[in-house]
Amino acid sequence: MIILSVETSCDETSVAITKDGKIVLSNAVLSQIKIHQPYGGVVPEIASRAHIESMLYMFDKAIKDAGIKVSDIDLVAVTQGPGLIGSLLVGINAATTFAYANQIPLMGVNHLLGHIYAAQIEGEMKFPLLTLLVSGGHTELLLVKDHLDIELLGTTLDDAVGEAYDKVARMLGLGYPGGPVVDRLAHQGEAIYNLPKPFLKNEPFNFSFSGLKSSVLNLVHNMKQRNESFKVEDICASFQESVTEVLVQKTKDAANNLGVKQIVVAGGVAANKGLRTKMKERITDLEILTPSIKYCTDQAAMIGIAAYYQFKKQGALKDYYLKGSSAINFI
Ligand code: KG4
Ligand code: ZN
Repeated sequence: MIILSVETSCDETSVAITKDGKIVLSNAVLSQIKIHQPYGGVVPEIASRAHIESMLYMFDKAIKDAGIKVSDIDLVAVTQGPGLIGSLLVGINAATTFAYANQIPLMGVNHLLGHIYAAQIEGEMKFPLLTLLVSGGHTELLLVKDHLDIELLGTTLDDAVGEAYDKVARMLGLGYPGGPVVDRLAHQGEAIYNLPKPFLKNEPFNFSFSGLKSSVLNLVHNMKQRNESFKVEDICASFQESVTEVLVQKTKDAANNLGVKQIVVAGGVAANKGLRTKMKERITDLEILTPSIKYCTDQAAMIGIAAYYQFKKQGALKDYYLKGSSAINFI
């Protein structure tokens, strides 16, 4: 089954062609990072307009790269949320129009489901599995009992992990997006500062990173006031040590308590080298399935893979786009 998928939930315009919920034939991704960098974060209106400008080109590129014809496509899948409303609408309208014009069934896919199913590109999901989903907007522990049978165990009480990384990077003057830079610098420094590790003992499945973020701010502020010299690399290493310690220990405890067969680590922050290494070092009795770095951050291939399993479970949705599915009905 050949699926064309579209992802425009934030600042990546992406169209992919996947086969049978496993094989990625093409995955065209255009990042808008450079456009948003001067503003220190994603500007929603600018993001929507940039999606519009590159959308048609990305459709062409994905189809060409995959070496297929439009008539080979069995299903069109599109991220329906969560995400920036204007950005989502561009992708949904493009996908709906393409599906309607070519009389191909259409399906809306949850962005977070896509992040989880990115793991299926790398290996075989074994149920029940525990997913640690860490991205710019989400920090979740999920029990995946079977395909599309998912229970939310816990989430963040305040900032998402990626958001905390981006905010710490911003206060250290490291630019946007901060996660990859903090990760790189952390490997060049020493975790010499004793920052809090928010385990939330009475809430084993929940997270909170806003206090840790404030501690970094206070630490830097106090050192500057005292004219103490410090290495940004050491701050990054200390922050990353606290974050990864909490993420890994909570995942390990949850996996042991629930008796799962596998752990999936997914979402943009799953690209973090410190997190990937610590997960593998500390959890040795369970298989850890992590998408390769290019499938951790936002792209359409993960939406195509998730769509395949959603299609198998829900059956054909041949008339979907005819049933008044204006873009707004998706969201
Ligand atoms: O999944 P994603 O691409 O978009 C959302 O759905 O949010 O995740 C983006 C987030 C950003 O906050 C970015 O800073 C973070 O993932 N990120 C990282 C790394 N690479 C991306 N955070 C820590 N270390 C990284 N290597
Ligand atoms: Zn995402």
